[in-house]
Amino acid sequence: MSDAIPPAQAGASSSAHVPVLVEKVIEALAPVEGAVIVDGTYGGGGYSRAVLAIANCTVLAIDRDPEAMERAWAHAGKDSRLVPAAGRFGELDAIVRASGREQIDGVMLDLGVSSFQIDEAERGFSFMREGPLDMRMGKRGPSAADAVNQLTEAELADIFHVLGEEPAARRLARAIVHRRRLQPFTTTSDLADYIERSLGGRQGKRTHPATRAFQALRMFVNDERGELVRSLIAAEKVLKAHGRLVVVTFHSIEDRIVKNFLRDRSGHAPGLSRHTPGAPRAAAPSFEVLQRKAIEPSDEETEANPRARSARLRWALRTEAPAWGGTINDGPRLPGLQQLEGAA
Ligand SMILES: C[S@@+](CC[C@H](N)C(=O)[O-])C[C@H]1O[C@@H](n2cnc3c(N)ncnc32)[C@H](O)[C@@H]1O
Repeated sequence: MSDAIPPAQAGASSSAHVPVLVEKVIEALAPVEGAVIVDGTYGGGGYSRAVLAIANCTVLAIDRDPEAMERAWAHAGKDSRLVPAAGRFGELDAIVRASGREQIDGVMLDLGVSSFQIDEAERGFSFMREGPLDMRMGKRGPSAADAVNQLTEAELADIFHVLGEEPAARRLARAIVHRRRLQPFTTTSDLADYIERSLGGRQGKRTHPATRAFQALRMFVNDERGELVRSLIAAEKVLKAHGRLVVVTFHSIEDRIVKNFLRDRSGHAPGLSRHTPGAPRAAAPSFEVLQRKAIEPSDEETEANPRARSARLRWALRTEAPAWGGTINDGPRLPGLQQLEGAA
């Protein structure tokens, strides 16, 4: 696994978000004059600015975080080619239609959290900063504290195992359930310290013992796996023929989802040969993948910006074939967020 919250990201302070792989994103997206591009993860606006700097086009800037949308509105005040649209990228097809458009030329997604979110202790994303155990990008719904204090031991173990790839998932879940009976978890440092005590110290490891559990909780609370799946299906619906989908991921679970989606949609699903007699007729490929291998940051970029370390970029061209629709397999089932009683 690669960590979603590398030490430098979780601990170091930075005053702004440094966009990752931005030149490669622009190369893959290839925006042209008059294009309409969806930036599904506006964040600090690094990608949007880069697109608008090279092409006279329109960028529909989506983010679920109200603070990111404030930045987008400030940006739009200076450049009317940026059109802010608050919401989740999992519903980007509906957002595109609500903006009065049927089809668009490009979608870019830069998954995970921004440095703005990590650096603000009050948001509760970082185990290196004392703050409420929150982690909600959209500031609504159940928080990480609700998850830690309400899920069953088995559910917590599944979340740590599947979303955090934590080898000691069961042991950690048992310890957390034992401790919360005496005192519920309310802060990031309380949970991080408790995990460190339960799992043992770092023992020469580069990452904090709470890294995987924090990643898992963040992904669960924000339904990041579900959002990614919905966004790929939504992008397939609204991209024009020859439109481009560009996705930057930060850990293996997400990269696998994007890779498998593009492999299947470009007609390379394993065991699905259209030439085998009697084989089910596969739908015509809805994407064309020109570069199979994920694009990774250079050593220089990783050195200058440690957050880039685990970034992987994949991109594809939309074909003229109809969207396949349906859904895709994103791995083992996990408990739903709806069952938690959370602050609205
Ligand atoms: C890594 S940052 C993007 C940084 C941006 N590319 C830049 O250059 O400044 C990820 C952003 O995506 C947002 N985000 C994450 N999941 C989202 C979702 N499902 N829908 C909308 N925004 C989301 C986060 O709130 C965060 O602001």
